[in-house]
Amino acid sequence: MDDFHYKIESGQGALWCEGVSLDDLADEVQTPAYVYSQATLEGHYDRLSQAFAPLDPLICFSVKSCPNTSVCRVLTQRGSGLDLVSGGELYRALKTGVNPAKCVYAGVGKRPDEITSALEAGVGWLNVESSQECALIGQLAEQLGQPCRAALRVNPDIQTETHQHTATGHRGTKFGVQLDQVEAFFETYGSSPWCKLSGIHLHIGSPILQVEPYVMAVQKGIELMDRLRSKGYIIDMFDLGGGFGADYQSGQAPEATVYAEAIVPLLESRVAEGLQVVFEPGRSIAANAGVLLLTVLYVKQSDDHTFLICDGGMNLMIRPALYDAFHFVWPTRVTASHIPPARTEKVQLDGLSPVNVVGPICETGDIIAKDRALPQVQAGDRLAVFGAGAYGMSMASQYNSQPLPPEVLVDGQKAKVVRRRETYADLLAMEV
Ligand SMILES: Cc1ncc(COP(=O)(O)O)c(C=O)c1O
Repeated sequence: MDDFHYKIESGQGALWCEGVSLDDLADEVQTPAYVYSQATLEGHYDRLSQAFAPLDPLICFSVKSCPNTSVCRVLTQRGSGLDLVSGGELYRALKTGVNPAKCVYAGVGKRPDEITSALEAGVGWLNVESSQECALIGQLAEQLGQPCRAALRVNPDIQTETHQHTATGHRGTKFGVQLDQVEAFFETYGSSPWCKLSGIHLHIGSPILQVEPYVMAVQKGIELMDRLRSKGYIIDMFDLGGGFGADYQSGQAPEATVYAEAIVPLLESRVAEGLQVVFEPGRSIAANAGVLLLTVLYVKQSDDHTFLICDGGMNLMIRPALYDAFHFVWPTRVTASHIPPARTEKVQLDGLSPVNVVGPICETGDIIAKDRALPQVQAGDRLAVFGAGAYGMSMASQYNSQPLPPEVLVDGQKAKVVRRRETYADLLAMEV
């Protein structure tokens, strides 16, 4: 799953990331802090890439999940491309040194200046979401004299078992073009020499812990590509988006090989005919590669509830408040008998008591973990929020004027601050 593990030191369990003690690291950089494991990032990327090797896919790491350029560079140096959704992400991508041709640029609301930058950079494909956008890309490409390849984002109308805010592939969302309107779309825009529609893009939502929705999406995609080809359109790229699961709880997500066993046979013959398959994984690579380290400031009893009030909350990890998402939380130091056997909602150990892990933010919804059985914790103890590498720092805010925390990348026994902690002056830096 990852490279965060408890080591026993003089009868106590202490959390390490690869070869670095997280308590020693926290003494150095203070909390709150995000810590990423390079070995975990690489391991997840490698497993995906090996599982899907028969398709020789272009894996484009989804920058929105963990945009730090040092993290992205770990992956691009391994051969990954990048999945981008804004001019800001394109700017980051170019700083990593990635080959722009290995990038896809999606997003429902691309501004004209963002499209121009993507054209000038020479991104591999623009993923088109609407007819007006397609017309604008064609116009801007013609003005620049720079034709581009494009993939049409299609809404395949597939229901998925995920939170309503992260399900994207059913009818009625703002994403893509309805399946039954795609042929008409191609009749209008499919022969532009400037915005060359030559791919199909899908993203059915995330996290998707079953393979069936992917199988359905691929089948619908293949049928669609065949219909378009029979009308003379050249379709040579199929982008299946992201959404593969991560282990927010131990063993929750299917292995990359499980997704691959279902998907590869459906696409293998098409790849042999020249189809380029693209994936846009974010959380399946980054989620388990990061923890958020917090310090408990106060232990507060209120009626029957115990609150562990920490130095970071929804401002740094909004997923529980936004999606009711589960993140495993555990002290960085515990007695040896309290080393968690697995990261699950209900840990089967003696001597645990229920607590609410909350932050300093002035919102009742500022909760990281509710009614969670934890070992005895005192003010000053540190907690690790696991599975925090994706959509953690990337969705963090300065709400309540809390400066953003540092990000640290661990590689073996080395820990490097790859984004420094913000200062109070940083909070005001943009104000004029
Ligand atoms: C179009 C698209 N591709 C890829 C992703 C990445 O999803 P995940 O991080 O779940 O793999 C997202 C997530 O929102 C997305 O909207």
